[in-house]
Amino acid sequence: MTRYFTEEASVETVNERVGSEASPRLREVMTSLVSHLHAFAKETNLTQDEWDIAIDFLTRTGQICSEERQEFILLSDVLGFSMLVDAINNRRPEGATENTVFGPFHVANAPIRQMGDCISLDGKGELCRYIGKVTDLDGNPVENACIDVWSDNADSFYDVQQPDIQPKWNNRGRFFTGPDGAYQFVGIKPVSYPIPDDGPVGQMLGHMGRHPYRPAHMHFLVTADGFQKLVTHTFAGDDKYLESDAVFGVKKSLIAPFVRSDDEETVWRSDFDFVLVPVE
Ligand SMILES: [Fe+2]
Repeated sequence: MTRYFTEEASVETVNERVGSEASPRLREVMTSLVSHLHAFAKETNLTQDEWDIAIDFLTRTGQICSEERQEFILLSDVLGFSMLVDAINNRRPEGATENTVFGPFHVANAPIRQMGDCISLDGKGELCRYIGKVTDLDGNPVENACIDVWSDNADSFYDVQQPDIQPKWNNRGRFFTGPDGAYQFVGIKPVSYPIPDDGPVGQMLGHMGRHPYRPAHMHFLVTADGFQKLVTHTFAGDDKYLESDAVFGVKKSLIAPFVRSDDEETVWRSDFDFVLVPVE
């Protein structure tokens, strides 16, 4: 046993205290966390002033959290940690649609709409027809898949960020596929937006010379019996922030075409097929 603390044996000293009551998994996770945290301080020769700043930063990050605001998720997002955990937990076979971050703006139980309906209720922005199909890995259509979609409006805000300004359920809806697995709906061509950057995480980005913007995207949550849940976005292929998404959500396979539409209702058209993986 290493009973007294030394710099050299700091990790062992702390980790040997873990008692037999700790579950094996908690022991594994916490001892690894202590090991990497101590290594970080040793590698950087962390000063007392720097650690005080960090404690103050984490304190303010907690204090700004509320029912409507989750600054710790934002911190996890901008450090790339949310995307890493998502990647570890959603490894998929070749050909399957990739996952990306869920984000903080989904609202459960959005109105169920008919294929072809328009989800933009505020009349702002350029309309886009989203069209494609939901299939399994062999290309067979998936019937009765729920496609839950949401995006910001043309002013870069989600309806829940502007409850007194935007109509409820603006740019949201759920669509259920028929036997052909096909879907289509009309929304707007989304626009890029900054993550909330008026708190400690925004200040940190500023100090690091990073911008807070996310490239324009449409959110999709696709669920169907017998298949893994798919949480993803499609990204507008011409966005200037594609290669510098503040939360690292862009994957090459999720960049969708947005081309000029040939129908009268819409300005744009975006084709994208979703390929689901069966549950094991
Ligand atoms: Fe978003």
